[in-house]
Amino acid sequence: MDLKDVKKVAREKMKGFCNVCRECNGVWCAGMVPGMGGAGSAHSFKHAYEELKRVKLVMKTIHSATDPNTEFPIFGESLSMPVITAPITGTKFNMGGGVSEEEYASDVVHGSIEAGTIAMIGDTGDATCFEYGLKAVREAKGRGIAIIKPRENSEVIKRIRMAEEAGCIAVGMDIDGAGLVTMKLFGQPVGPKSIEDIKELVASTELPFIVKGILSVDEARACVEAGVSAIVVSNHGGRVLNNTLAPVEVLEEIVEAVGDKITVLSDGCIREGGDVLKYLALGARGVLVGRPVIWGSIGGRQEGVKLTLETLKNQLYQNMILTGCSDASSISRDRVKY
Ligand SMILES: Cc1cc2nc3c(=O)[nH]c(=O)nc-3n(C[C@H](O)[C@H](O)[C@H](O)COP(=O)(O)O)c2cc1C
Repeated sequence: MDLKDVKKVAREKMKGFCNVCRECNGVWCAGMVPGMGGAGSAHSFKHAYEELKRVKLVMKTIHSATDPNTEFPIFGESLSMPVITAPITGTKFNMGGGVSEEEYASDVVHGSIEAGTIAMIGDTGDATCFEYGLKAVREAKGRGIAIIKPRENSEVIKRIRMAEEAGCIAVGMDIDGAGLVTMKLFGQPVGPKSIEDIKELVASTELPFIVKGILSVDEARACVEAGVSAIVVSNHGGRVLNNTLAPVEVLEEIVEAVGDKITVLSDGCIREGGDVLKYLALGARGVLVGRPVIWGSIGGRQEGVKLTLETLKNQLYQNMILTGCSDASSISRDRVKY
């Protein structure tokens, strides 16, 4: 099995939901939420893609970085690369049902581990999605991270307890799901949080708490104040609000403001290893990858997920050699022009 086959099968199985385009840039699937696209005209998705393309790698070949280290330590784990599988749910209403929710959760949790990394599992209005994610993490002896929707705090804490029971290494909340259409469809109340709300969630668990969906310096600072362990600078794949800034546009100023106090992760439109390198050079400690992992699961199941992630790792390694980066934890800003 190679990635071409995986994508071909995914394209067939996701007909009408995702075209698995050569350039996954939000154009074909504009407005398809539910579905695989971005919200509204999909400007948030398209802009994140275009802005990432504006970041250019600076090639360097006179140096000693012959065997770069891609390892990534986080939450007591040593991952093979600074790439984590993004939380994703809704195989039926987002992906066309080519795999079931249970199969998807199992594929991504186990396939990510086989590639030497870890998956986040997501939450949505259909309660079974979160439960299948936790089932897969439990089977993987807790090697996974649970990301919960910004429900009422009592409901979030209920799910934190479930994640602890499954053995998760960290928990968190996709706070940018505060007005999500897919939650509305299921009649599930979600909404914005105060700093006090976040403090209560952080205090409710011994596990590291992550806030996913930060796009401004003041909200990154609020997370530090609330005692959060890590933030994900993200616009949720362009799915929650149209016309946002791109994650790479705000990443540097957020890292400058809080990067020494909190772990800063980021995501959006990462399609090849060079994209990972760009995010790292702009200050992210690690990244999340979404849509390519979906194609991996639908087109090649667990093996397809593993192959997708291993390909990203190999490309990152190769790109580090060609930009003179010996360690993924210390990629300097001058490796990109932006
Ligand atoms: C079909 C689909 C479903 C998603 N479901 C969730 C979810 O349940 N929870 C969440 O935090 N993010 C969710 N996301 C957002 C991803 O976690 C991630 O932020 C985004 O996909 C990254 O962009 P990329 O797909 O371009 O890599 C979803 C994204 C897609 C495309």
